Amino acid sequence: MTGRVERAGIGAPEDHELRTMRERALAAMDRAYAPYSKFLVGAALLGSDGSIVEGCNVENAAFPSGTCAERAALGTAVTRGVRAFRAIVIASSGETPAPPCGMCRQALVEFSPELEVISITRTGTEARWRLSELLPHAFTPASLDPTRD
Ligand code: THU
Repeated sequence: MTGRVERAGIGAPEDHELRTMRERALAAMDRAYAPYSKFLVGAALLGSDGSIVEGCNVENAAFPSGTCAERAALGTAVTRGVRAFRAIVIASSGETPAPPCGMCRQALVEFSPELEVISITRTGTEARWRLSELLPHAFTPASLDPTRD
């Protein structure tokens, strides 16, 4: 039998996890520091252990020194010892759901190539992709060392 309990912790997020992730991504978006682009982004990353960590974009007067919300969340999660992820919710302040930038796709694929990526806006519009669909033929740890898993 493949019940909810068996699937918990792997695969697609449960509805209650998604609800929490949406709330936390939107709250993180409201804390974004984006005085230059005025494009606010928050991300909530769901770990394989069920933990959720947030990040927001943090811009800088020296523009290239700014960081994206997704990589901020990823850095915090890895710092906490979580290295496998089931889903990320990205909330952004534009009118349509924003897909993650190329650098964030690359950062995330290192850990979870089949990550579920959900992008939302404040008004409730939503888009969903699989990371492998957003970044096909990715350069991964196996590209550096094919003998590694
Ligand atoms: N941004 C993110 O935080 N994540 C993305 O995936 C795309 C872009 C941020 C970077 C910058 O602070 C602002 O959005 C405009 O590009």
